[in-house]
Amino acid sequence: MTNELHPETLAVSAGRPGVLGGPLNVPIIPASNFVSGAGPEYARGDGTDSVHALETTVGALEGGRGLAFASGMAAISAVFDNVGLNARLLIPDDSYQGVAGVVADGEARLGWKVDRLPTADTQAWLTEIERGADLVWLESPSNPLLEIADIPTICKAAEAAKVICVVDNTFATPLLQRPLSHGASVVIHSATKFLGGHSDLLAGVAVVRPESDYDQIVDALEHRRTYGGATIGALEAFLTLRGIRTLPVRLERSQSNAAELAVRLTEHRAVSRVRYPGLPDHAGHDLAMKTLDGPGAILSFETVGNSVSADVRISRLKLIHPATSLGAVESTIERRAKLTGQEHIPETLMRLSVGCEHVEDLWVDLDQAISGLV
Ligand SMILES: Cc1ncc(COP(=O)(O)O)c(C=O)c1O
Repeated sequence: MTNELHPETLAVSAGRPGVLGGPLNVPIIPASNFVSGAGPEYARGDGTDSVHALETTVGALEGGRGLAFASGMAAISAVFDNVGLNARLLIPDDSYQGVAGVVADGEARLGWKVDRLPTADTQAWLTEIERGADLVWLESPSNPLLEIADIPTICKAAEAAKVICVVDNTFATPLLQRPLSHGASVVIHSATKFLGGHSDLLAGVAVVRPESDYDQIVDALEHRRTYGGATIGALEAFLTLRGIRTLPVRLERSQSNAAELAVRLTEHRAVSRVRYPGLPDHAGHDLAMKTLDGPGAILSFETVGNSVSADVRISRLKLIHPATSLGAVESTIERRAKLTGQEHIPETLMRLSVGCEHVEDLWVDLDQAISGLV
């Protein structure tokens, strides 16, 4: 029955206890230790009902088996910890910097052979998958260049070649993109971002394909979580699930704000380039319209001038917060090139995570910050 519901409905309704006379929401269960003999023994390996409710809900949204982690990086590391010596990996050349860091470490310590492919060059992915690989990693829209990968085509090719294919779906959320349905093996979320939605927790989720062929991946990720101690806390699990309940309305508002700001920024004299998949001149626009149910709530833009003038502009913002995380009710902005390991990013590029404020207030703030002399 739940499989027939729209994702917006699943976000609100999945993972509820449904016990007559019981609470509508699974309460926070702050337990580490259980009375032995029937069921759970210890929360690091067995989780708690708070954790299971979150896993059920994200699993229903993505169409697979959900495993919650202490952060997005904990989920990501659990995947990469299972990649063996001398493995061949296909990674996007624009990916979350934590992924880039883990992969560089594997190259140095474990002899991984890594090909970094342009996200949008579908043929390059297909050619390299055909040559043979142990892991394909995709992120679309990408962080922070907002490039679009042809998820259906690449995932299908990886599935046919029996290559494990992992998609970081943090920017799209399961409301806009469900990669497992296209052949991906695992979906990853930094639930710290849109799923939680309030900048008040760290959480991660891996969702694995439901078929028994993928049992081994579930077991391997659970093993890493248990023995790496990457279990999510009960409060974080509870809050993440509460965040998911309002994701549909938050995302709708943030996305329409982002679409409006993207157009206005394009026309602004201080802006040299806007990257937003919803803009018709975005290189991945047509693909995004085909593969995503919406262009999302993140955009990046570059301003005329240099890194110093870009930082001055950011410092003038009064409403939009300079902050590194994203996907929350409040708008945040960051000049990404200031982070180490992000050399491929234009120096003035600002990644704007658009929140749920009134769009006119956001525009007034942005306009005054970028218009002034620098
Ligand atoms: C796309 C993406 N994936 C993964 C992560 C890592 O998640 P976390 O910070 O929850 O460990 C982030 C964090 O910024 C991200 O933006």
